[in-house]
Amino acid sequence: MHREDFPMLKGDIIYLDNGATSLKPQCVIDKVVDYYENYSANAHRGDYDISYKVDLEYENVRDLVKDFIGAKRKEEIVFTSGSTDSMNLIVNGFFSNLLEPDDEIILTKTEHASNVMPWFRIAGKTGAKIKYIPLDDNNFVTLENLKSVVTSKTRVISIAEITNVVGDVRPIKEICEFAHSRDIFVVVDGAQSVPHKKIDVASSDVDFLAFSAHKMLGPTGVGVLYAKYELMQNIEPVNLGGGMNESFDSEETMVLKDIPTRLEAGTPNIAGVIGLGEAIRYLEKIGMTKIESYEKELRNYLVEKLVKIPHIDILNLEADSGIVTFNIDGLFSEDVAYYLNKYGICVRAGNHCAKLTKDILGVANSIRVSLYFYNTESEIDNLVDLLKDKDKIMQEML
Ligand code: ALA
Repeated sequence: MHREDFPMLKGDIIYLDNGATSLKPQCVIDKVVDYYENYSANAHRGDYDISYKVDLEYENVRDLVKDFIGAKRKEEIVFTSGSTDSMNLIVNGFFSNLLEPDDEIILTKTEHASNVMPWFRIAGKTGAKIKYIPLDDNNFVTLENLKSVVTSKTRVISIAEITNVVGDVRPIKEICEFAHSRDIFVVVDGAQSVPHKKIDVASSDVDFLAFSAHKMLGPTGVGVLYAKYELMQNIEPVNLGGGMNESFDSEETMVLKDIPTRLEAGTPNIAGVIGLGEAIRYLEKIGMTKIESYEKELRNYLVEKLVKIPHIDILNLEADSGIVTFNIDGLFSEDVAYYLNKYGICVRAGNHCAKLTKDILGVANSIRVSLYFYNTESEIDNLVDLLKDKDKIMQEML
């Protein structure tokens, strides 16, 4: 779908690494260039026309993001440098003041580094304990398994909505319903879900959501932190500086601005935010429901072909997203990626920044195909043809 809008797709590559980052449509590129060419002033600081235009464009994107994820107020949206930054702000700005010794933080072993490492450090500092939800035979989270680890000490459950290796889609609404009945907070890493499905934070009732622009057609270096209004008010800024203060004086008194500005110290990634806005307009024109169902069809098409190849071991056969992870018997995943690269095919290989996942899958490295709406069956046919002949792969990867 819509391949003509993506300059990168005019070349010969087959891009199947959308979990790492997506390609950018021309309209997003043009929007970013337009800012730099025509009104490249700072935000929230100038008293002249082009600065005023920046403020309008920038704040308009906050509204767009709010509507895109179904938030109730624009103050619930803070721009960050990406999902990682958002996760660190949630952990360091909110939970660091809340967690006490022996409080429990619930994760899974299939989370990305940015939903593990900040928790490790805060657990070390506060004396809180990390616990992992046992996963079912498909390596999925079930509500029953979640319930089995929750105790009266549990303060927070922090999980991806879609994991970046197993690609399973978690039942976030049900998890929130259960967690909130026990006064437990739910943090959702939406890096792999927000670009691919309709999100409605008001309906799912998540407390915090993190995601990145660059995986959803937008620029790199910009992301979003969503938090419920009353929670956002209690996030302590990790960065202090320009733009976020009302005043400070030589008595060392500081008066900070209200949310969301209080949490956006320094000059923000203005071009990035404006580019994100254009990406959202573009995605909405296509429709998130259509994107989600197309990707599922494409996934099924790929999996049906891969299961017929005896030397391929699919590690997430039952997952329900555009992420398909596999290995080839006896071959190192990065060698296979190198072989595919010779034919212009881009996939990711290795541990995919989810280094606890090896405890679950039993393998440290794998090949990951991650689809987006602009991928096609014919691209998948090309990939599968190249993977069919193991002898050819072995000869050519040397
Ligand atoms: N988190 C990104 C990925 O899964 C980079 O590839």
